[in-house]
Amino acid sequence: MLQGFVLLRYLQLMMILKTNEQIELMRKSALLVSETLSEVAKILKPGITTLAIDAMINQYIRDHHAIPSFLNYHGYPFHSCISVNDVVVHGFPGKVELKEKDIVSIDVGVILNGWHGDHAYTFAIGEPEKEVQQLIKVTKESLYKGIEKATAGNYTGDIAYAIQEHTEGKHGYGVVRELVGHGLGKNLHEDPQVPNYGKRGSGKKLKEGLVLAIEPMINLGSRYVYTESDGWTVRTKDRLPSVHFEHDVCVRKNKADILSNYQPIEAAEKLNSELFVCA
Ligand code: MF3
Ligand code: CO
Repeated sequence: MLQGFVLLRYLQLMMILKTNEQIELMRKSALLVSETLSEVAKILKPGITTLAIDAMINQYIRDHHAIPSFLNYHGYPFHSCISVNDVVVHGFPGKVELKEKDIVSIDVGVILNGWHGDHAYTFAIGEPEKEVQQLIKVTKESLYKGIEKATAGNYTGDIAYAIQEHTEGKHGYGVVRELVGHGLGKNLHEDPQVPNYGKRGSGKKLKEGLVLAIEPMINLGSRYVYTESDGWTVRTKDRLPSVHFEHDVCVRKNKADILSNYQPIEAAEKLNSELFVCA
């Protein structure tokens, strides 16, 4: 038992590179999450409860022969994380209804054919304040700036620096330090950690075939957060809104391969008149 445990720890501490065949399976997992989020984008409107959204997510995933990976992960009690306004991440779905001007991050994970997909998108219900619209736009931009650095030979710190520079550097937003992106594969969380702040050339060296979940969590105000007594809900200390976007990305030599896809989500977002398109 002990040896098994030590072996498991060891596996989690080394980067696991994927073959091209495995990458294609992971793309299927990531795209199932994209499709799930695009279904969510169709039904979002004021008055809907986040618990109803979570139920829809569970059903959609199971209808597509996959498993919602967040359920029971370290005891997490729902199928998705739904984080409204000042909730940064890991928000519990509940009976509360979404309302005009809310922003809502929806984070979904699946296991399909043994491979994990894990990504997230932040939607605006109705028309939020201009500064909140800008926060959403800039956070999404920062995700792509980070992804540009996910090439072989670069470091996790290069991704981190690009995200921090665009958000904290250019706009003075708060970059959450306590939570980070991660490797992804047969496990939801693999090596390496991918922070959203740091120095260029620091951290782990990236290799071709590494799959990363890159996920900036950016606050309108200060970077400080706390975890509520439920053990999960992470909220900003100053109660100002926070935005979260996440993509699954394969490290390649010249250009990162984004396995998840915002296109179906953005298409549904545009068609839903209850949503405000910020970026
Ligand atoms: N995207 C989040 C993460 O990578 C989702 C995990 S939620 C949990 O940590 F409930 F599964 F922990
Ligand atoms: Co993640």
